[in-house]
Amino acid sequence: MHILVIHGPNLNLLGEREPDVYGKMTLEDLNLEITQYAWQKGIQVECYQSNHEGDIIDFIHENRKDTDGIVINPGALTHYSYALYDAIRGVNIPTVEVHLSDIRSREEFRKKSVTAPACIAQISGKGKMSYLEGIATLVKYLESS
Ligand code: DQA
Repeated sequence: MHILVIHGPNLNLLGEREPDVYGKMTLEDLNLEITQYAWQKGIQVECYQSNHEGDIIDFIHENRKDTDGIVINPGALTHYSYALYDAIRGVNIPTVEVHLSDIRSREEFRKKSVTAPACIAQISGKGKMSYLEGIATLVKYLESS
């Protein structure tokens, strides 16, 4: 099983960025946790981060032939990127949307996700566990289909 974990805009600043909201863990720490968790489950994982919508879409397209599933934290793209919604729909790869913070309990504009309807599930508000649960959800889905 080969999966992609994609982090969207501003997630490169984890650890520095609003630590009261996102915690003190850096992206490097998070990727290490993700990789170790996936390794224990016997899954190959590739982590990727970009601040650019088009680069994320290109990355999804480029990897579409050899990826079984995607876990994505689209960052703020969640709330307005119909291009990302189309990309997820277009490649037809099971995708789980994850968020570190609870997007439903924050500002009004964060409550809506335009990308979630293209995904099999959304997990929000559990910090790094959102990603790990995202992987577990994906694996369960892939094993049962
Ligand atoms: C986020 C929530 C988004 O609203 C925000 O723009 C982010 C991070 C999260 O992980 O909680 O960049 O996706």
